[in-house]
Amino acid sequence: MYNLLKGKVGIISGALDENSIAWKIAETAHEEGAKFVLTNAPVALRMGTIQQLADKCNTIVIPADATSIEDWENLYEKATEHLGGKLDFALHSIGMSPNIRKKKEYNNLNHAWSLKAIDISALSFHKMLQVAEKMDVLNDEASIVALTYIAAQRTVPHYGDMAEAKAVLESIARSYGYRLGKSKKVRVNTVSQSPTATTAGLGVSGLDVFMDYAEKMSPLGNASAQECADYVVSLFSDFTKKVTMQNLYHDGGFSNMAISEEIMEAFGKGK
Ligand SMILES: NC(=O)c1ccc[n+]([C@@H]2O[C@H](COP(=O)([O-])OP(=O)(O)OC[C@H]3O[C@@H](n4cnc5c(N)ncnc54)[C@H](O)[C@@H]3O)[C@@H](O)[C@H]2O)c1
Repeated sequence: MYNLLKGKVGIISGALDENSIAWKIAETAHEEGAKFVLTNAPVALRMGTIQQLADKCNTIVIPADATSIEDWENLYEKATEHLGGKLDFALHSIGMSPNIRKKKEYNNLNHAWSLKAIDISALSFHKMLQVAEKMDVLNDEASIVALTYIAAQRTVPHYGDMAEAKAVLESIARSYGYRLGKSKKVRVNTVSQSPTATTAGLGVSGLDVFMDYAEKMSPLGNASAQECADYVVSLFSDFTKKVTMQNLYHDGGFSNMAISEEIMEAFGKGK
């Protein structure tokens, strides 16, 4: 513990259960001295175990569907009231594709569901930032992070329309990063995380194989959810004040590999 977030207040979305990346981020932010509120979709509050996390972090859960402007307005109003002021950090850890959930192949998408996936997984980030700007709830030098995946840049089978959603998400981080950087020195970044065994991750068929493959490709091995939490906390801290508009790979080196010795060995052509 380094007290990296002492005195800082924020919002953490997307903790569903103890496997969620956001769950680890909340625990780590709490250990590092932050105060925050938790939020998730009303349905997730009924299905998940988020109240246990709230008790542990000595905070409250404010339900909000991330696709609803009214819910963001209500969330910011209640959060700033509960925390006693404006926000220093916010985490977007939200993703869902009905096509993936219903195992629709890429050449057989239900396009109405794709719009839903993009709304939930990407436009919700724009809504989060637009409402925050309008309500002026961010402190100067606040830090905003959204979680993303390399399927936005490189094709991954079975990731379906989430690849498009993540590309939009990353673009929104750049566009809003420019805007909020100019107006309030707020930084906005996406963290592109290794495949991780969570509810959303395991919804993508073959995740276990991606994980094995990525582990063998990455010189540092896959990044765990806890390691992702440590990295995100560093981005919320004062040690990263000039990092903005970036898609930051947190993947053990995977994104810069073409082939590794382990993969060569797996194909029977190792040294
Ligand atoms: N698991 C992986 O392999 C992996 C890799 C890279 C990036 N990510 C990203 O990390 C983020 C968190 O996912 P996770 O892997 O921790 O899984 P998770 O299932 O624990 O978290 C996804 C969260 O999104 C929330 N959500 C869905 N619809 C919502 C809505 N309408 N409003 C508000 N919240 C809603 C869910 O309730 C859930 O808490 C996602 O953006 C995901 O794409 C995951």
